[in-house]
Amino acid sequence: MKIKKAVFPAAGLGTRFLPATKASPKEMLPVVDKPIIQYVVEEAVRSGVDNVIMVTGRGKRAIEDHFDKSFELEYELERKGKLDLLKKIRKIAKLAYLSYVRQKEALGLGHAILVAKNLVDDEPFAVLLGDDLVYSKIPCLKQLINVYNKYKCSVLAVERVPREQIHSYGVIGGTHIEDNIYQVDELVEKPSPARAPSNLAIIGRYVLTPRIFKALEKTQPDQGGEIQLTNALKILKAKEPIYACEFVGKRYDAGDKLGFLQATVEYALRRPDLASKFKAYLKDLDVNLI
Ligand code: G1P
Repeated sequence: MKIKKAVFPAAGLGTRFLPATKASPKEMLPVVDKPIIQYVVEEAVRSGVDNVIMVTGRGKRAIEDHFDKSFELEYELERKGKLDLLKKIRKIAKLAYLSYVRQKEALGLGHAILVAKNLVDDEPFAVLLGDDLVYSKIPCLKQLINVYNKYKCSVLAVERVPREQIHSYGVIGGTHIEDNIYQVDELVEKPSPARAPSNLAIIGRYVLTPRIFKALEKTQPDQGGEIQLTNALKILKAKEPIYACEFVGKRYDAGDKLGFLQATVEYALRRPDLASKFKAYLKDLDVNLI
């Protein structure tokens, strides 16, 4: 079955970016001049998935407005003859087919996905987390879809992370199948380095079979009262195989201040309109500024 739908959990409070996220969604923070969420929606579209289900919450209206038509803005840009910008702005509203559903309480990633159940229906689907930006020739989600098309089961994007960071991720233990593909044997959410089955961390891209919804319904909340997707995947694994793909590309944790700064610098350096001036500025930058 073709992957047509992508769920974007976007209800989080963005506490790591306060005060910036007090009144604005963290998904709308710009990397150079584009909100993070737009990069991720573009990745889904480039992967052939243009049916986007956004799981939002209170205070997230700006996301809907961003992907909507903006009559006043378009009128003004047209009137002023700023046609390049006008084209860019119009493209955003046509990027994907968007649906919105609200997660009323912050009960975890697994719960957010469960909220999208009725909109996903009984078909395999993708999940993309806005905190992770992946720069790659073949979109990260497309790499997972290629694995799904071959094995017809859920596929998780994984990356090797240093031991000291392992506690921030869901971690898998796996059997190497071919090239960069593993069959998942073990899953642990945010383990201590001693309990981690490997250094292969799950990053925010998934292809899931619809059976995950049953697993999510059975998943007990963790100590913090949240329903973890990783724990539901454990239940799913008892019923059907799960694969992991060590994707090719550079990932930025844009939900973290340092990762966000790294993404900003590197995405700017890749921009033809900024690269040379920005590079020159960075070269001359006095690192002893303070
Ligand atoms: C979530 C998942 C975790 C995964 C991570 C990837 O954690 O629970 O398994 O490794 O996303 O970004 P969060 O970062 O929301 O705490």
